[in-house]
Amino acid sequence: MSSKTQAPIAPDTGNNSPVLELIDVSMRYAHGPDILHDINLRLAPGDFYFLTGASGAGKSSLLRLIYLAHRASCGQVHLFDQDTALCSRRDMALLRRRIGVVFQGFRLLDHLSVFDNVALPLRATGKKHADYEEDVIELLTWVGLGDHLHAAPQTLSGGEKQRVAIARAVVGKPDLLIADEPTGNVDPQMGRRLMRLFSELNRLGSTVLIASHDLGLVRASGAPSLHLDEGRLRANAATQNGGR
Ligand SMILES: Nc1ncnc2c1ncn2[C@@H]1O[C@H](COP(=O)(O)OP(=O)(O)OP(=O)(O)O)[C@@H](O)[C@H]1O
Ligand SMILES: [Mg+2]
Repeated sequence: MSSKTQAPIAPDTGNNSPVLELIDVSMRYAHGPDILHDINLRLAPGDFYFLTGASGAGKSSLLRLIYLAHRASCGQVHLFDQDTALCSRRDMALLRRRIGVVFQGFRLLDHLSVFDNVALPLRATGKKHADYEEDVIELLTWVGLGDHLHAAPQTLSGGEKQRVAIARAVVGKPDLLIADEPTGNVDPQMGRRLMRLFSELNRLGSTVLIASHDLGLVRASGAPSLHLDEGRLRANAATQNGGR
């Protein structure tokens, strides 16, 4: 593995469970109107998709459904072969552990250092400091934050915070990586570097879904995209995804 060109994520044993299936799913906030309509989407292990669409089209909302932060108003959401409507709270927590999320607003913990924010998912699985220290430092160095390990998140720029959020999402090699505009705050060169990190994670078996406005980045990656238009996955997306 060349440290200059290849992202620092060690291989893990594969997992062949189906990853995600949304069947006729709609979603609304509180008592408002549905903002996602009749969504059908299936992601197989190892898939890599972008999710595009205008501001307000429902990208973040669709991702929220997938990482179980919001319930569907109708339809079925299956994650890792489980119908989430039938899951206990404990089952839901276990499913969430298999998902790495880069939130649009980062959601870093301000009382923890950069290092500790990134180490959090590993610590949650019971790993010891000595077992993950090197991996966390290597990953933060890869995203250009090797000199900020002990910084407080509130002292970082927007792009730096975004890179911490990405490192935290990928460090545990999740089965499913969901990223909401993960390159929106970084320069093009860093954007390409972060895409290499996602590609490397995908090469090692993670399913990846990235919401992005950056059509240049989407095109350059060569990965297929799903398109949301006013809460509906449009025909070109359905055709691309529907044949599975
Ligand atoms: N917490 C909320 N409560 C009520 N309505 C919401 C909430 N969050 C989003 N919405 C509405 O849902 C719709 C979809 O919003 P969403 O944030 O999913 O869009 P988006 O495609 O991610 O947009 P952007 O590209 O600007 O991030 C919008 O009409 C928005 O106003
Ligand atoms: Mg959004």
